[in-house]
Amino acid sequence: MGSAEIIDGKAFASQVRADVGKKAAVLKEKYGLIPGLAVVLVGNDPASEVYVKNKGRSTLEAGMQSFEYKMDSEVSQEEVLARVENLNIDDRVNGILVQLPLPNQVDADAVIASINPEKDVDGFHINNVGLLNTGQDALIPCTPLGCLLMLKNYYGDLSGKNAVVLGRSNIVGKPMGSLLLRENCTVTIVHSRTIDLPNQCRQADILIAAVGKPEMVKSDWVKPGAVVIDVGINRIERDGKSRLVGDVDFTSVSEVAGAITPVPGGVGPMTIACLLKNTLTAACRQAGISEPE
Ligand code: GUN
Repeated sequence: MGSAEIIDGKAFASQVRADVGKKAAVLKEKYGLIPGLAVVLVGNDPASEVYVKNKGRSTLEAGMQSFEYKMDSEVSQEEVLARVENLNIDDRVNGILVQLPLPNQVDADAVIASINPEKDVDGFHINNVGLLNTGQDALIPCTPLGCLLMLKNYYGDLSGKNAVVLGRSNIVGKPMGSLLLRENCTVTIVHSRTIDLPNQCRQADILIAAVGKPEMVKSDWVKPGAVVIDVGINRIERDGKSRLVGDVDFTSVSEVAGAITPVPGGVGPMTIACLLKNTLTAACRQAGISEPE
């Protein structure tokens, strides 16, 4: 095989954001509705701070309102729950995202459960998980949604493809499996206890790597011509420099794969674009209006 096609997530994400921006303009003009997204950040993890800043900027660029709440790393669970409750009843706020991970003293499951499911733009609330898994209208987790949009843009119909999802997190692996099943793929979810991971991954027409292990997927794990979506964002030291790498060994795998997403510039920008998309969807549903075409 030659070199894989590089799937440009950055360019595709800017199309998605522009589309959201157009729809937001219609909502404002027709209904006086300006969707609002609230992001809660607990503590001062530098990577999370960068994400939150990017989310805020993109929200404003799409013509929506952005609200940011920073809370001290020592904050109590009750204080986080009280903040979420305020946002649940705030009419300006259509979407609520509490940045994960949370410090140990705060129970993430309890915080997620406290978010009004209609405002749960992360799609992490069990109501949305249940809706997705039963084929109903859910708010869908942003990273898997971004991966799916890129795959559909590349392939069109995904019916009958062998999809292997590496990783079983609630944020990516499990919802990714559900989404691909909904698209009629044959889905296998593999993880740290799977026997013969390389062989399982080699069966994939579509391979989604979401384990958080730098450059774990090697070229002999990949079927020639497969589409490889790399969800990992890992910071490593190489040649004395700090670098971002994915869960896929990009250099060797791009010699075998048919198409591959780069890190950075692949899945990451799509996640933010899908967050804006979900916020617009949530605002329309809350207002009882259909999404502009
Ligand atoms: N931390 C890493 N990814 C995510 C995400 O998609 N949503 C939230 N809330 N936190 C995250």
